[in-house]
Amino acid sequence: DVADIGVTGMAVMGSNLARNFARNGFKVAIHNRSVAKTEKVIAEHGGDGEFYPSESMADFVASLQKPRVAIIMVKAGKPTDAVIDELAELMEEGDIIVDAGNALFADTRRREAALREKGLHFVGSGVSGGEEGALNGPSIMPGGTKESYDRLGPMFEKISAHVDGVPCCTHVGADGAGHFVKMVHNGIEYADMQVISEAYDLMSKALGMDAPAIGDVFGEWNKGDLESFLIEITAEVLHHTDVTTGKPFVDVILDRAAQKGTGAWTVQTALDLGVPVTGIAEATFARSTSGSTPQREAAREVLPAEAQTLEIADKDQFIDDLQKALYAAKLVSYSQGFDEIAAGAKEYGWDIDLGAMARIWRGGCIIRARFLNRITEAYERNASLPLLLADEYFTTEIAKCIPAWRRIVAFAAASGYPVPVFSSTLSYYDAVRSERLPAALVQAQRDYFGAHTYQRVDAEGTFHVEWSEDRRETKQD
Ligand code: 6PG
Repeated sequence: DVADIGVTGMAVMGSNLARNFARNGFKVAIHNRSVAKTEKVIAEHGGDGEFYPSESMADFVASLQKPRVAIIMVKAGKPTDAVIDELAELMEEGDIIVDAGNALFADTRRREAALREKGLHFVGSGVSGGEEGALNGPSIMPGGTKESYDRLGPMFEKISAHVDGVPCCTHVGADGAGHFVKMVHNGIEYADMQVISEAYDLMSKALGMDAPAIGDVFGEWNKGDLESFLIEITAEVLHHTDVTTGKPFVDVILDRAAQKGTGAWTVQTALDLGVPVTGIAEATFARSTSGSTPQREAAREVLPAEAQTLEIADKDQFIDDLQKALYAAKLVSYSQGFDEIAAGAKEYGWDIDLGAMARIWRGGCIIRARFLNRITEAYERNASLPLLLADEYFTTEIAKCIPAWRRIVAFAAASGYPVPVFSSTLSYYDAVRSERLPAALVQAQRDYFGAHTYQRVDAEGTFHVEWSEDRRETKQD
């Protein structure tokens, strides 16, 4: 019982996480269902630090210092449940089981409740940054009890990414809060990736630029407000040449985007909570559209390709417009994502510091970006900000982008190019700030066919019109 912490699941993420702990001076117990993987980690990376490999789960647990901390890094769903059950059998009151995979927060809540009954702490923790992040410093979003964080926090903070000396890890909130926040992180990741791709698409199709030239533009953008990991890797990817054909790499990739589910979870949850995350939803549906092969084939056959690029008088101006539209659409996506976190916190009783979420996303994770500081500052100015977009920085920034954003969406619509995230975020922006919405008519229609009632602008109470009789208005109790 010497190890500070244990990791079970020695696929790339698990072994990289274990190596990260070891490199930071922790004694790390490691385990994998098939021993070969554990042996491989020791053979290849044993020099990273002090590892305590175990062949059985019982030995793994026995090698941990009390209160024990065991991190599970296996596939979400059934495999995770199986490992939790196995660990729970072997652990004792006060021990901590951490699920560091991408679990659905509702599963985490269920598991946490079940393990709490046994006196165990269950921590669902978001870990972002992919393989590289797990090894060199991820962004970590642990949920669970405060007590568990007292034990885990110092270790997690040490191995996390740091920005300006501040760790990209904090206690998010109770039970499933960590996985909830990681889920929304991934939803935002989808929106970011899609809107970047829409900008790429317009440069490619409307301006006829080749991939490396577009890569240069993203490289430039990465020096300004848009500076972020995703813009940086986009530039890199666009400059990459396919080894087989010598063509730009992006041009030989099949245009069907896959998804493992976290974006869809974000949207499903948002629907349940009644939060409009239109940027994330459109990004997720854009992946589905791309993957709808039979529909795309049929549509291509019968619906004429009518894209007709409107004339672009000034190419530099167009690229400048795209940059501004991208920034504005991004701000809206983040604002919507933070709304979802706030709504989740309210629904599930989590005390989530929204500014701190932006802070721990500044480094290590996939959506790491310069502008996340601005979000932290906004919540520092006003912790109960009803809408991120209402913060003075964001109102000013969006105001600067609006004409460009509208020009891009109008151009794309008139020319026949799909821009689901550019346009849905703009529609949301226009809706949310509208004096009056057509929802009034929807309410009237609902009352007409279903007696669903409505409220009036000029009187308190709930009303209904006797539509099929004399159209008298009655006040409901
Ligand atoms: C991260 C990533 C990571 C993973 C995504 C990919 O934060 O490190 O989000 O969790 O790469 O789940 O998701 P898709 O396969 O659905 O694109």
